[in-house]
This record gives sequence, structure tokens and C-alpha cells, in this order.
Amino acid sequence: MGGAAGLAIGATASCRRGKGPHDTGSAPTIPFHGGRQAGVDTPPQTHALVVGYALAPGVVRDQLVRALGDWTTAASAMTSGRSSEPALAGTSPARLTITVGFSGGLFKALGLAPAPGMVDLPAFPGDRLDPNRTGADVGVQLCADDPMQLAGAAAVLNRLADGVLLPRWQRLGLRPTRQVGTPRNLFGFKDGTANPTDLDRHVWRPDGSTFLVVRQIRMDVPKFTALPLPDQEAVIGRSRESGAPLGARVETDEVDLFARTDDGAYVIPATAHVRAAHPRFDGGAEMLRRGYTYVDGAGEVGLLFLAFMRDPELFVRVQRRLSAVDGLRHFTETRGSALFWIPPGVAEGDWIGSALLG
Ligand code: HEM
Repeated sequence: MGGAAGLAIGATASCRRGKGPHDTGSAPTIPFHGGRQAGVDTPPQTHALVVGYALAPGVVRDQLVRALGDWTTAASAMTSGRSSEPALAGTSPARLTITVGFSGGLFKALGLAPAPGMVDLPAFPGDRLDPNRTGADVGVQLCADDPMQLAGAAAVLNRLADGVLLPRWQRLGLRPTRQVGTPRNLFGFKDGTANPTDLDRHVWRPDGSTFLVVRQIRMDVPKFTALPLPDQEAVIGRSRESGAPLGARVETDEVDLFARTDDGAYVIPATAHVRAAHPRFDGGAEMLRRGYTYVDGAGEVGLLFLAFMRDPELFVRVQRRLSAVDGLRHFTETRGSALFWIPPGVAEGDWIGSALLG
């Protein structure tokens, strides 16, 4: 398994949907080869860089195949610390993972039948998508515990795909490097608590593929943090301090959607984020959120929302509910959006994307 079996997320969780993926583990390298790509069930590294590439005009299939072959060789070397790239000389891979995905647009451009389950993400009410951060033909998620690995590895990938895949947008994401427990987002709330533990059921498809939704969501920190604490907690549906669902005691307690106060109101308000996003409304289907905080040069801050799931229709359903009722929608605005099919992992001697183009 590309995602390093011993590092499976939430393996020690005690509740139904377990604690989020915050145990970073200690191995400096994450195996690149395997039936599933790494960077999905890998406990989140402290940094992520997501790059959206466009197919250069006039590129033919063989050129793309060659570039993906070169990426495979380079990714295998860089993630294992065997790279001879000068920019990475003398460094540790710091759990570098390189996860490659293909959009529905790429399938169309190449005249291929879409990957089973692929959808077009519709426009959601309230989104204010920036075309320069939305859509892409190929997406790459690079993650590592050392941001220099991301800069070095991305530069190598860009060079190898020069003239074939053009970088259209990229976003760097951060997680705390020294925090114990679930990381907090910029609103100050623990984010990543209720993640699935049964990834075979919720994330992986039988062939080892999955889907990745990327959203760049601007967060209005001054507006949210100006709310009195009880109002902030009502927006999320959890305690800011402990992360426990409202009405519960500890972070890992179940979200009780039915609990009512003495005067008959829901303990977890009708507009609370954790109610609107709850898997109960999706027949129990769940997504694996692996998000990061971002900060850009123009002063925008937000959530680099990265979520892996077996069926992207789940995202569409959840986002539709959030767009309609979620109290968080008054404090957030989606500026970038993309969906990628993440093909199965790469066996020794194979190349990324052979399942699609081989
Ligand atoms: C839960 C924050 C966007 C899906 C949570 C929690 C927080 C949070 C604090 C509770 C802790 C946890 O379980 O992780 C945010 C912020 C967002 C955002 C600040 C935007 C800036 C989204 C989006 C989706 C989403 C776009 C999906 C469309 C979920 C799900 C849960 C969750 C599925 C778990 C609900 C449960 O089962 O209890 N989010 N979120 N979130 N969020 Fe978000």
C-alpha cells in the first residue's frame, strides 16, 4: 500500500468515527510504490502544496505519457531520498508524498471515457470562484514536514513537464508543527476531529483509486472572532476549548443531533456546521478531510480544504446543504475549486496514470 500500512489514520481511535489524523508518525520516508497512492491515508504532514496544471495547447497523448513517466521516476527518487537534484541535496524527504490526480476535463480533452464516479462540480450558491484558481487538467498534492521539500519537488515536476503541463495555480497549506492533538483552524476551533476510520469503505475504490476535492475557502477571521464565544460555538456546533460537540463532554464524543434543551431547542443548532455536514444525511457516507491553513501575499487567509472520498457525489450533496443552511457560510467564501480522480498507486516499473493512459 502506497499509504504506508502502519500509519493508517485513526487506527487507535476509540469512537465510531475516530479522532482525526494528527499523529504525524516519525518515519522520514513514506513508500511511494504500492496499490494506492501515498498522501491520502498518510497522517498529514505539516505542509502541503497543491498545484493545478493545464494541458499545454496542442499536446498529444504520447507527450503526456512521457511527462508522467518522468514524474514517476523523479517522485520515486525524491520521496525516498535518492534524488540527485541539487536543490534537494543533503536534505531528508521529511515524509514527502506526491499524489497525482486527473480532472474530468483531462478525460474529455483526451477523448477518454470518464473515470467511474467522476462528476462535474456544479456551481454552489455563495461561491465566488476565481477562474485563476479553479479547475485544472492535472492536480498534484505534495506534502512534507519540511516546506523546502515541496518547493524543490514542485520545481522538478514543473521542469520535467515543461511544454506539456503548465502550472495554472498553486496553494501552500500549513499545519502547526508543534501542536499536540487536533490542529486548530484560524477561527480557533479544532478541525479534523470527525474523520472516518474505515477508509476501505469511505475513501478507497476497489481498484485503489479515490477522488480529491480541493477548495480554497477564504475565512473572514475578524468577523467570526468578533462574535461572542457562545455564538461562535453555535455556528460550529462544538466547544472551542475542548472540541466536544455541544452538550457532550469530550472531543471524541458523538455529535448528538437529537438532543434538545429544556425549552425544546436543538442543543446543536439547526444551522450548526457539524449538523449540516453530518454523515447521517448521506446514508452514513463520509469524506476524509485533510485540510490546511493558507495565507497569501494579498492578505487573504483561509482553509485549503482537501478531502478524499470514494464518490464525489458525496461532496456535492454536503456542499449543497452547507450552501443552504450552514451558519459558517456567513464567514467563509470559496474562491477556488477543483476535483481530481486519484488513480491507483504505482507498482515498481509502472508509471503514474497507466490505469488511464496505458
Ligand atoms: C467538521 C470547520 C468547510 C465538511 C468541521 C468542524 C470544524 C470545521 C471546526 C468540527 C470538527 C471536526 O469534526 O473536524 C470548517 C471550516 C470550513 C469548513 C472553518 C471552511 C472554512 C467545510 C466544507 C465541508 C466540510 C466545505 C464539505 C463540503 C465537514 C464535515 C465535518 C466537518 C463532513 C464533520 C461533521 C461531523 O461528522 O461531525 N468543520 N469546515 N467542512 N466539516 Fe467543516
